[in-house]
Amino acid sequence: MIKPPEHIAIIMDGNGRWAKKQGKKRFAGHIRGAETVSEIVEEVARKKINFLTLFAFSVENLSRPKKEVNLLMKLLVSSLKKEFKRLNENKIRLCAVGDLNTLPNSVKNELMFVIEKTKKNKQMILTLALNYGAKEEIIEAVKTISMKVKNSIISPEKVDESTIISHLYTRNLPPVDLLIRTSGEERISNFLLWHIAYAELYFTKTLWPDFKKEDLEEALSNYKKRERRFGKTSEQIK
Ligand code: IPE
Ligand code: IPE
Ligand code: MG
Repeated sequence: MIKPPEHIAIIMDGNGRWAKKQGKKRFAGHIRGAETVSEIVEEVARKKINFLTLFAFSVENLSRPKKEVNLLMKLLVSSLKKEFKRLNENKIRLCAVGDLNTLPNSVKNELMFVIEKTKKNKQMILTLALNYGAKEEIIEAVKTISMKVKNSIISPEKVDESTIISHLYTRNLPPVDLLIRTSGEERISNFLLWHIAYAELYFTKTLWPDFKKEDLEEALSNYKKRERRFGKTSEQIK
């Protein structure tokens, strides 16, 4: 049987459709979605999974109506304020990846505060992908590596996997073992391209605000049945 996943990543999708089904405004879905985040984070930590990475806001999401973007940013600040105590109680360390500099100051300040105040926690690393795009992440890495090559800090023939990884926003994360996407969409949407190279993918029709502990359980039991061969034959890994 395969080992439990060390790193789970989730594309939390379907907040808008959840709200629509209830006859509510999209934002009601985001509020309920934030509650799901809180429940699932605690549950994943309880299961002793070391890394959880959540796609909270993509670079592409910046093209949504300004009102929705602003409300999402406000919700992020209030969720960070609300969850801070619980993160510490559960010994969860918060990290963030993405183009954090262009986030509103209110978000940046709250985020930096919680990151700093949880940095000694060892139970689980919770990484929020904010203003995140995997292609942008790779472009930034290539730019920095090119500069280093130009300045003779790195020799081109020595560029390998670890050179690339060490220049990504996600450099401190291990490969993703299990990638979950809710809401029935079966796509990656520019999330963690490098780190999902060999991830097991799990898609569920459940909308993110409806995603419960039982749904996580189902994803994990489905994962357990997989055979991760990494290019080898079935016989080789038995
Ligand atoms: C995911 O839910 C949350 C974010 C992308 C911020 P959506 O807002 O994408 O919900 P749908 O896809 O419209 O249902
Ligand atoms: C992906 O969801 C981003 C997040 C979950 C934060 P979207 O709902 O924005 O993805 P697409 O654009 O429909 O693929
Ligand atoms: Mg969506």
